[in-house]
Amino acid sequence: MSETNVFFPVLFRDIPPREAVSALLDWYRASARELPWRTQITPYRVWISEIMLQQTRVEAVKPYFHRFLEALPDIPSLADVDDARLLKLWEGLGYYSRARNLKKAANVLMEQYGGELPADVQKLKKLPGIGSYTAGAIASIAFGIPAPAVDGNVLRVLARLTGCDADILRPQTRAAAEQAALQLCPADTPGDFTQGMIELGATVCVPNGEAKCSVCPFSPWCVAAREGMVDRLPVRSAKAPRRVEDRTVLLLREGDRYLIRRRPPKGLLAGLYELPNELGTLNREEAIAFARKNGFQPLRTEHLSPATHIFTHVEWHMTAYLMTGYFSETETEGEERIMASREELSAVYAVPSAFSAYLKAILELETP
Ligand code: ADE
Repeated sequence: MSETNVFFPVLFRDIPPREAVSALLDWYRASARELPWRTQITPYRVWISEIMLQQTRVEAVKPYFHRFLEALPDIPSLADVDDARLLKLWEGLGYYSRARNLKKAANVLMEQYGGELPADVQKLKKLPGIGSYTAGAIASIAFGIPAPAVDGNVLRVLARLTGCDADILRPQTRAAAEQAALQLCPADTPGDFTQGMIELGATVCVPNGEAKCSVCPFSPWCVAAREGMVDRLPVRSAKAPRRVEDRTVLLLREGDRYLIRRRPPKGLLAGLYELPNELGTLNREEAIAFARKNGFQPLRTEHLSPATHIFTHVEWHMTAYLMTGYFSETETEGEERIMASREELSAVYAVPSAFSAYLKAILELETP
């Protein structure tokens, strides 16, 4: 018995019978949403969709998925794409390391697997950006291999179905959930099982007191429904609160161009372009001094409305100034600075969504 099995009987003990799986499959085939990665299934499409869907809602992913597949229709084109174009295709989806890992993995696939995704869970898991969930999803959906694909939604379904009240943030709970999912996964239609669990978690067995138990195919077997625990499961230990960071953003305009700079190659939003910004809430005089330090002479300064952006671990509370003037110096300590036109800001440079309120302001400004 493997080590993870030791936890299995304790955590997910009330595994339902085969009929429950059949009920899920019938429900999925009758009621699932038609989604672009479901109507035409290829390993590449499943991979790209699963990576995009990791942190992003289905509706938000759809247009990105189409655009990405059109621009980069296969593994060779993804392996070859230049970084700026890749990040531009990803702009707005956030969590840019996902895009960088896609390209890295495509290069490994070109070098080691003849440009194809391997039909093997362990090999998939070794690729950059592919963890246990994604490997299981690709293996089961694209290759028909019985493999568990347990993300947060599926974990919620399993915790409720089996009445598991262990902390789902513990790795042992996740491992046990994978065992339970594998035990339930039918050998002949693993892909529909994976998609069915995902669909149920996304549309029926939902969080925040909104679960629709009356239409759930699992309800005859669901321990949480029977014992009135749906809204108490799954159990999750309290997360550390997000850090709040005040920032001041500068929109420095000379003629019809705006200054952007490249973020450092490591850390939050690495390598992307940004509007110059500084920690803290600067008043007008301090903001002007900061602009001058950056080689900019403002002639007119306007205070803009505040904006907020929420990352996983940090929250930016931003204030901003629009300054019109001219650059007295073009070089500042080797930093890559670019004067971008509005067209370039929307079509060429990948600027993270954190700045989107101010980018929008730029795009809406009148031409001088
Ligand atoms: N979320 C993660 N994977 C998904 C999928 N294949 N379909 C819909 N939502 C998902």
